[in-house]
Amino acid sequence: MKLDSHVPVLVVGAGIMGAGIAQVAAQAGHPVRLFDAREGAAAEARGKLAATLDGLVARGRLEAAAAAATLGRIEPVATLEAAADAGIVVEAIVESLAAKQGLLRQLEALVGDGCVLASNTSSISVTALAQGLQHPGRVVGMHFFNPVPLMKLVEVVSGLQTEAAMAEAVFALAGRWGKVAVHARSTPGFIVNRIARPYYAEALALLQERAATPAVIDACLRGAGFRMGPCALMDLIGHDTNFSVTESVCAANFGDKRFAPSLVQRELVEGGLLGRKAGRGFFDYRAGVPAAAPVSAGRGEDLAALPPAARIVLHGQGLAVERWAAALEAAGRPGERRTESDWTGLEADGAQLRLTDGRPAGRVAAQLRMRDLALFDASLPPGGAPGSAVAWTAAASASAPWQAQAGAWLRAAGWQDQRVEDAAGLVVARTLAMLINEASDAVLQGVCSAPAADAAMKLGVNYPAGPFEWLAAWDATSVVRLLDHLDDHYRGERYRVSPALRQQAWLKEMTA
Ligand SMILES: NC(=O)c1ccc[n+]([C@@H]2O[C@H](COP(=O)([O-])OP(=O)(O)OC[C@H]3O[C@@H](n4cnc5c(N)ncnc54)[C@H](O)[C@@H]3O)[C@@H](O)[C@H]2O)c1
Repeated sequence: MKLDSHVPVLVVGAGIMGAGIAQVAAQAGHPVRLFDAREGAAAEARGKLAATLDGLVARGRLEAAAAAATLGRIEPVATLEAAADAGIVVEAIVESLAAKQGLLRQLEALVGDGCVLASNTSSISVTALAQGLQHPGRVVGMHFFNPVPLMKLVEVVSGLQTEAAMAEAVFALAGRWGKVAVHARSTPGFIVNRIARPYYAEALALLQERAATPAVIDACLRGAGFRMGPCALMDLIGHDTNFSVTESVCAANFGDKRFAPSLVQRELVEGGLLGRKAGRGFFDYRAGVPAAAPVSAGRGEDLAALPPAARIVLHGQGLAVERWAAALEAAGRPGERRTESDWTGLEADGAQLRLTDGRPAGRVAAQLRMRDLALFDASLPPGGAPGSAVAWTAAASASAPWQAQAGAWLRAAGWQDQRVEDAAGLVVARTLAMLINEASDAVLQGVCSAPAADAAMKLGVNYPAGPFEWLAAWDATSVVRLLDHLDDHYRGERYRVSPALRQQAWLKEMTA
């Protein structure tokens, strides 16, 4: 079955999403009918679109003829009778199972054979939406992202009874509408809203432990390549919305603690500090209030300013070690290299600055019986650019001179060092490991393929890389070790390792 551009499309619900869906369908050449239960809403939406298109024409971004043609293809309709000749109906009404089921039943009585019933739901089970219909096989999730004309991703969601031909038709249609479609099986949060949970949850967990401020956490994740840190992003989404998505994913997973919402966020919701829209969330957006800055000791350290160590040894490999090697070489004090070492980092006269493996610095110091112990955070491509922020911490036993030197060594490697409390897995390492872990479970459970997960996270929430791209740049053994250390430290359900990831680590050990 093929939904060519001459096939009429009915969009039900002329709100933010429905208006956007009508626009992309019309731009692709379809005759579009737009219906809303609120009288006049569809015409208003068309009016707003006309103004948007006029603006694009005025700025030379769209031909006047193309704008007129797009608008000419959108017809506000007053009843659902327009469903009769539609090849596909896309509903974008209120997010309520009862309302959507009622609408689909009504539509089923009106549409012709073979018409696809697509839903833009972001959280309701597609299997549940189709329940009770004569032809449940024609119900498909078509999950767009806001703003629809700009966001490239569409999750094509199949419920238990969705016919493969219907899902394929929607997949191909999304492609013809200029989108990148990915297949997803109907499970809580589908792909993006599920895999993204740790991006928020790890920041909230760090805040609850008072390990770092929102500004520091955000700076570190921007340093890892994210366009927005998690705290600023939650402020943008709105804490009420973000909290309720987390609650619904957690409840839909029978209260699995892995998805547990945070007290820190509930407090913001209860206090009405909902984020940008309220003028305050983690950050203060009221006029005249200066933006919160992370506290950094500075950047760009001259190695010559560091006290000379009699013996510097570089352990393992990776971005930090390579930068230290180059800086030491340039300063005429090349260090010893131990690339085969079982840890990564720097040793200066016996004191150590190690890449985190998920154990808190205090624990590593106790296990090694080493007082002067500090840890720094992971950097995976495309993150770690010179000048970007990196988190580090020191064991409580570390001497004041070594604490000062640890930050200075990171600055010598070109980073802006951000001191945080001794939290297991620091900031970036634990966040990326948990994103990889969640994506691994999603693939294991047949929710999506690994390439679909990567595409979905890059296009649906603008991640700088996909979870499996990070995994390829890191390695399964290190990720599993880090998660096991977090699991051991916190002893809850949150950090349990995906069986798929563990299998990969074993395979790697066999072939090493
Ligand atoms: N806003 C987002 O960022 C976003 C992103 C992805 C998916 N979604 C999903 O898209 C859907 C719509 O969201 P929105 O943000 O556009 O909401 P919205 O409130 O802007 O628009 C919903 C529209 O549906 C109309 N409506 C309500 N019940 C109706 C019914 N029974 N029949 C016809 N019209 C009805 C309302 O009058 C309103 O105009 C929801 O399922 C939501 O979960 C939203």
